[in-house]
Amino acid sequence: MANVHQFDVVVVGAGGAGLMAGLYASRNAKTAVISKLYPTRSHTGAAQGGISAALGNYEEDKPEWHMYDTVKGSDYLGDQDAIEFMCNEAIDAVLELEHMGLPFDRTPEGRISQRPFGGHTNNETGKPVRRAAHAADRTGHMILQTLYQQCLKNNVNFFDEYQALDFITVNGKTAGVMAVNIATGELHTIHAKSVIFATGGHGRIFEVTSNAYAYTGDGAAILLRHGIPLEDMEFFQFHPTGIYKLGILITEGVRGEGGVLINGKGERFMPKYAPTVKDLASRDVVSRAIYTEIKEGRGVNGKNYVYLDIRPETVNKFAVEDGRTNPDGSKYNLTAEQVLQKLPDIIDFCRVYLGIDPVTQMMPIQPTAHYTMGGIPTNKYGQVVIDDKNTVFPGLYAAGECACVSVHGGNRLGTNSLLDLVVFGKHAGLKAAEYAKTADFEKLPDNPLAESQARFESLKNGSGKENVFNLSTELKNAMFNDVGIYRNEKDMQSALNKVRELKARFKDVAVKDTGKVFNTELLNAWELGNLLDVAEVVAMSALNRKESRGGHSREDFPERDDKNWLKHTLVWNKDGKLEIGYKAVTITKYQPKARVY
Ligand code: FUM
Repeated sequence: MANVHQFDVVVVGAGGAGLMAGLYASRNAKTAVISKLYPTRSHTGAAQGGISAALGNYEEDKPEWHMYDTVKGSDYLGDQDAIEFMCNEAIDAVLELEHMGLPFDRTPEGRISQRPFGGHTNNETGKPVRRAAHAADRTGHMILQTLYQQCLKNNVNFFDEYQALDFITVNGKTAGVMAVNIATGELHTIHAKSVIFATGGHGRIFEVTSNAYAYTGDGAAILLRHGIPLEDMEFFQFHPTGIYKLGILITEGVRGEGGVLINGKGERFMPKYAPTVKDLASRDVVSRAIYTEIKEGRGVNGKNYVYLDIRPETVNKFAVEDGRTNPDGSKYNLTAEQVLQKLPDIIDFCRVYLGIDPVTQMMPIQPTAHYTMGGIPTNKYGQVVIDDKNTVFPGLYAAGECACVSVHGGNRLGTNSLLDLVVFGKHAGLKAAEYAKTADFEKLPDNPLAESQARFESLKNGSGKENVFNLSTELKNAMFNDVGIYRNEKDMQSALNKVRELKARFKDVAVKDTGKVFNTELLNAWELGNLLDVAEVVAMSALNRKESRGGHSREDFPERDDKNWLKHTLVWNKDGKLEIGYKAVTITKYQPKARVY
């Protein structure tokens, strides 16, 4: 067998979760990280506003409040044991990043600076609390750079620009992964005792998204084909503020610094929908409010967008109205210099992509598909679990956005994603290395590549008439329009039918480039196959859940229904047909309550 490499642990994906997993695994085991991108180009770099931890650097805060906010934000679908674990680990996780050299912004006293974010509150007053530790509006970017440097220092072996194509199992145990070297087109087998998937989300199933081109659900699709279920895939988060039409993220940190949403009539509308926390309500609430404003004719110039306003004069006017003060109780007075200092990247994005300057002009925004709450089911140690009894698959782990622990339940709070990937990336790395210490390498089959090689090659040799770009556009439009912010049976059924039609047509796809070197057309086709498989699970899970909860909002079932639906969805692929099952939600401290906005 050519191109076989052997490692105790292989991590697939080099975003924050993959790097944290690689770093921790490498302290106890021979570890490799493979990534279809150069690591520091991973999508974690797009996370802007902060990482949550109840550091209390400006005002009182507690991990318990963080836990309650996360449970409430999840609309009670999050598993409370895992949420408690994450919130308790948050403070140490952020301090560890600081000690690794992450250049956080600072308070005047030199502590890590924190800003308010939607849904994070002082549980006694109900008012927003400053919980998001941040490095300007480049927090994810800084995490990525910091962890990559730590991995290099720790001699993690990197396979940059290797696209994972398959997971190898022998006798029901993990045996490695198969990947293609994008630069040469050669296939490689990475023989391993433990495999950690950290492949990110699948926002590219939607037309308008903040997600990188690379977010094509690769890990989820690969494991689905191996009989591993996917959990709660109906829950997809729409971030309220993406740049109109482009979907590029404008951080919630803008509203954290006092920015407000304004409709086409010049009115600030969030107080109508969330009288207490207003523009800092959780994302599902704000996205629905924007959608409603647009649908009822209050978009700007009759179009599908509203404004986000961070101009100092607007912010300072509403700060007086809202009783917003500085942490020391003095008058809140945002200046143009502070906007530039605290939000440099979003200022640049608006100048470059829109030709507007947010210091003096309002930003046109619309909700953008942002984050998948569902994914590969795991326990809080990153071990992949394959049924309703939480049976562990030996040697298989997942962390970060591709995983569903589940700490986000029906709706994730902003800044909990960076926390999730640091905390659970670390534990997945630790557990994977621990498993590798006692497990033996499984003997590889004679040709472990045969099946996936055949699937990959058949794409390249396809002489059909279907075109990757056209299929992909049809998929994204159907999912965005029919499985979006508001959903109903008729539209979701139509989307599901469309996805199935596209899956059939995908068999007839033509890849014209037959070369081996950087054959991106072939890779795009392969990624489209993943998107289609994942989209089918999303549409089917959404159609199946007959209630509204968190980011899953049904016009035909507008109420949350705890009696029938306080349970996780699991979807398996059984011989090409999807089957649905359920798993209980872990409730420890907080019984479900009606949401108050
Ligand atoms: O708005 C933001 O900065 C995004 C953060 C997040 O998704 O956690």
